[in-house]
Amino acid sequence: KPPVRKKTVPGIVASREKLTMLTAYDYWTAQLVDRAGTDMILVGDSLGMVVQGKEDTLEVTVDEMVYHCRAVNRGRQQALVVGDMPYLSYHISREETVRNAGRIITEGRADAVKLEGGRKRIPMIEAILDAEIPVMGHIGLTPQSVNALGGFKVQGKDFKSWQRAVDDALALQDAGVFALVLECIPYDLAEEITGKLDIPTIGIGAGPACSGQVLVTHDLLGMSFGRTPKFVRQFADLSATGGDGLAAFIEAVHDGAFPTLKESFKPSKKADNIQLY
Ligand code: KIV
Ligand code: NA
Repeated sequence: KPPVRKKTVPGIVASREKLTMLTAYDYWTAQLVDRAGTDMILVGDSLGMVVQGKEDTLEVTVDEMVYHCRAVNRGRQQALVVGDMPYLSYHISREETVRNAGRIITEGRADAVKLEGGRKRIPMIEAILDAEIPVMGHIGLTPQSVNALGGFKVQGKDFKSWQRAVDDALALQDAGVFALVLECIPYDLAEEITGKLDIPTIGIGAGPACSGQVLVTHDLLGMSFGRTPKFVRQFADLSATGGDGLAAFIEAVHDGAFPTLKESFKPSKKADNIQLY
């Protein structure tokens, strides 16, 4: 069997096909999305909400990102792994920023980092790029700005905010980001940005014109019990099928139908001779 070739940043940028990116935070999910053929796996700070059950992404730490990136890296074979930089890990100084991005790459074994924000992030982006770490940008609804934005709201609806998004996108491309996430903006704005850029745009709630699409895997597989945003399509319902399976297990245990002797070990000859594995 030929060795699997891992996707690369230049390969992603040069891709002529629509790109896909899916989130994963653990070994099993990384294997699932990698085998499905996604181009990129995002170890997103959405971790804070979908795995840790928090209200927003603000408390996620670099240590947590490193831990989850390590698990995801072991589960992937072909996909590019992008690690999110948590809130406050790239806001204070260039030194702290490069150290934190570097930990996600060296300890976490991600291939690239992603960070949120427009032109004001360029000094930090340049510092990370100087350390030879590829950076993905992220504009529009930037969840780490939830307090400044006053909630998770569609961005770019008025003229000023539209123009700011276009200018930020061009400035981030000039700074050297290899791809740009566009989150929750009107589809005509995403179309204009995608048309103006040479690098790929990866949309989430940004319509069909983007160069690729990203979704939170938990949302698209129905791995949550809350409401999902308008832009999510639920392609499977793991909460339902998983819940059915678990109910069947509980019933089988109550009925004495599980386990059978076939699912048990043969009687031992000597009590001290039991080897389980
Ligand atoms: O953290 C995340 O999952 C993200 C995507 C929604 C783009 O940043
Ligand atoms: Na994120």
